[in-house]
Amino acid sequence: RNLKMKTLCRRDINSLKDPFLAVFESLIPADEEKIKQKQLLSRLEKLVTQEWPEARLHLYGSCDNSFGFSNSDIDISLAMENRDIDKGKLLLKLVDILKSKNFQNVKALPYARIPVLKFVDPVTGISCDICINNALAVVNTKLLRDYAQIDARLRQLVFIVKHWAKSRRVNETYQGTLSSYAYVLMCINFLQQRRPAILPCLQRMETTYSKSVGNVECSYFDQVEKLRNFGVKNGESIAQLVWGFFHYWAYCHDFENDVISVRTGATFSKSSKGWNTRVGNDCHFISIEDPFEVSHDLGRVVDKNSIRVLREEFERAAEIMQNDSSPFVTLFENY
Ligand code: CTP
Ligand code: MG
Repeated sequence: RNLKMKTLCRRDINSLKDPFLAVFESLIPADEEKIKQKQLLSRLEKLVTQEWPEARLHLYGSCDNSFGFSNSDIDISLAMENRDIDKGKLLLKLVDILKSKNFQNVKALPYARIPVLKFVDPVTGISCDICINNALAVVNTKLLRDYAQIDARLRQLVFIVKHWAKSRRVNETYQGTLSSYAYVLMCINFLQQRRPAILPCLQRMETTYSKSVGNVECSYFDQVEKLRNFGVKNGESIAQLVWGFFHYWAYCHDFENDVISVRTGATFSKSSKGWNTRVGNDCHFISIEDPFEVSHDLGRVVDKNSIRVLREEFERAAEIMQNDSSPFVTLFENY
């Protein structure tokens, strides 16, 4: 497959490298923004520990995984030692506290699958989501951030793919398309499978980091500073990789039979997970294994209609990357 992709790649593809890097750079948040986020986090932590002294706040998601655009929301996990706590009640108490301190648009969704509290900070204008004891998200955020340290092309590819997905409206889980988290896993897996590989498979290496979250054991090699040269044998530019990513998802991926897996750095068959048969509403039209919660398919939100939309968008992007001399307008054209 890789050979086919190489020979098919357009000859002038590297002339697109600098413009793609410019798109990437235009999306990176400024350092001041990161500082503001940290300050907000410590202000919130003070408020929370006044009520619950043992509580701690941890960032997760795009504000901490190095794949966040500027002006993105921040996701916070409130860690409480008492795991039997009534999350709904706790969130409602937190609503009162935040309202009394003039936080804006404070809304709790205490009965959602993952109970969450949403609000806007009046000082910075930053929107926040807080959920309780979402330790798995904190750990998978670290995994993503660690992968980003290994080769700069991962962050570049993710930014381009997320920008495309947001422009084309295929980054909306409530509409049956994929989460940003799913797109990051697709990019990591794609770079693990290049030949020579651009990213290793950290979960297959010696364990240097390990944390158990409930009954899920999360362990992998996290000394990524030792892997900075891992991808140097592969000289592909961001332009070639964007081309290859869309080409893979448009024409090469076996949607019917294959699961992509960052945990193994490979793809394997759906039947080994029982994901080839429909159970209830879970159809597995596209299967992306969560690296730690391995029974979790991030494609489960995709239905009969949205898989068609998604595949049409992959094909549209692949065609643009193959044929347009200046793909930057069409690729990111708002849907
Ligand atoms: N997450 C998860 N399982 C999912 C979806 C999300 O564990 N099915 C966790 C991940 O830790 C992820 C975080 O929630 O990093 C936020 O998810 P998402 O909003 O999809 O990604 P962001 O990186 O925050 O992207 P965006 O910039 O679009 O907000
Ligand atoms: Mg987010």
